[in-house]
Amino acid sequence: MAGQTRIAVLKERAAGESRVSATPETVKKFIALGAAVAVEQGAGERASIGDAVYREAGAEVGPLDSVVKDADIVFGVQGPDPALLAGAKPGVWLAAVLDPFGQRARIDSYASAGIEALAMEFMPRITRAQSMDVLSSQSNLAGYKAVIAAADTYGRAFPMMMTAAGTITAARVFVMGVGVAGLQAIATARRLGAQVSATDVRSATKEQIQSLGAKPIFVEEVAGIEGEGQGGYATEMSEEYQKAQAALVSSHIAKQDIVITTALIPGRAAPRLISDAQIATMKPGSVIFDLAVGQGGNVEGSVADQVVEKHGVKIMGYSNTPAHLAADASALFSRNLYNFLSAFWDNEAGKPVLDEEIGNAVRLTQAGKVVNERLLG
Ligand code: NAI
Repeated sequence: MAGQTRIAVLKERAAGESRVSATPETVKKFIALGAAVAVEQGAGERASIGDAVYREAGAEVGPLDSVVKDADIVFGVQGPDPALLAGAKPGVWLAAVLDPFGQRARIDSYASAGIEALAMEFMPRITRAQSMDVLSSQSNLAGYKAVIAAADTYGRAFPMMMTAAGTITAARVFVMGVGVAGLQAIATARRLGAQVSATDVRSATKEQIQSLGAKPIFVEEVAGIEGEGQGGYATEMSEEYQKAQAALVSSHIAKQDIVITTALIPGRAAPRLISDAQIATMKPGSVIFDLAVGQGGNVEGSVADQVVEKHGVKIMGYSNTPAHLAADASALFSRNLYNFLSAFWDNEAGKPVLDEEIGNAVRLTQAGKVVNERLLG
């Protein structure tokens, strides 16, 4: 049998990143598979996981050099600076969210350093990979957090309340973009007692919106547009559609108290959904949470990690929303990584052996070269 597979868990270095890519739970599970796990000291601190808990779970805990030196697989939440892996073995795997389009130079450096980089956000959207999908697990939490943060900033209550002093009306919440984050935002706003409506370019979401007890707001007059591209993702819409959507949204948005925007198009800047002129039609005191602010923003004037006030409306958004729920986000991210590698664990070889469909989708670099189709095209 080959030697034992060694997994290294890095401490995140990006500003504002509080997550960690393995938890004591997944450390135990990897050890049960036959792997050894080394965690960089302090890696879990910001997700409320101390070094001692990793040790109890069976991990070694040590400085960067010692955890990276003998590793076969390195875990991160975000892609590390290649220099941090300088002491790693040639051919070491790196599994993290690598931002391949935004960080192309870094991907090239991974290749030339002999690192086999696996981009977790390139996980294909197929049923068997659902449990491995970090975009879903993190978006779900982000959708929840967006509503909670907006509710906290809003100067009124969400539910209707009948009190001795009089009645408070329910907040009106509008969710734009009903993917994983949007669905969770609808569910969360409903649980808080708001009156919720939602829109998307993919007509398949209409039923999902209704099943969560929210009202769908859809462009009906532009025929033949399904808005659904490859892998269930949105496509960029025609100019005609965009105009019709803007008109529809304008009339609706003026009556809303809270708007949560979540619209993304893979590999492109986020679509602009709300203009300054539309913001001006909203009531003072309303709140807009722009979940896409890190990808260019859906809302004119939104600034990451700031509350900007325009026309009396507060516009907010975090550059890294899941990091605001560090413990749960880490738990789910870590399980995604475990579900991914354990699904391919070859007991005989004592290591994961990826299949073609998923391997080719996530692998960016191999044997010194960039090999991923999406980066070569
Ligand atoms: P996303 O984060 O890429 O985009 C968020 C939402 O914004 C999407 O629903 C998209 O249609 C919408 N959007 C884009 N442009 C818009 C515009 N101009 N106006 C309004 N809305 C706009 O999407 P996410 O959350 O990653 O999910 C996309 C799809 O993939 C969903 O159908 C989801 O159920 C599916 N999915 C499948 C998985 C699997 O089978 N393994 C895993 C995760 C998601």
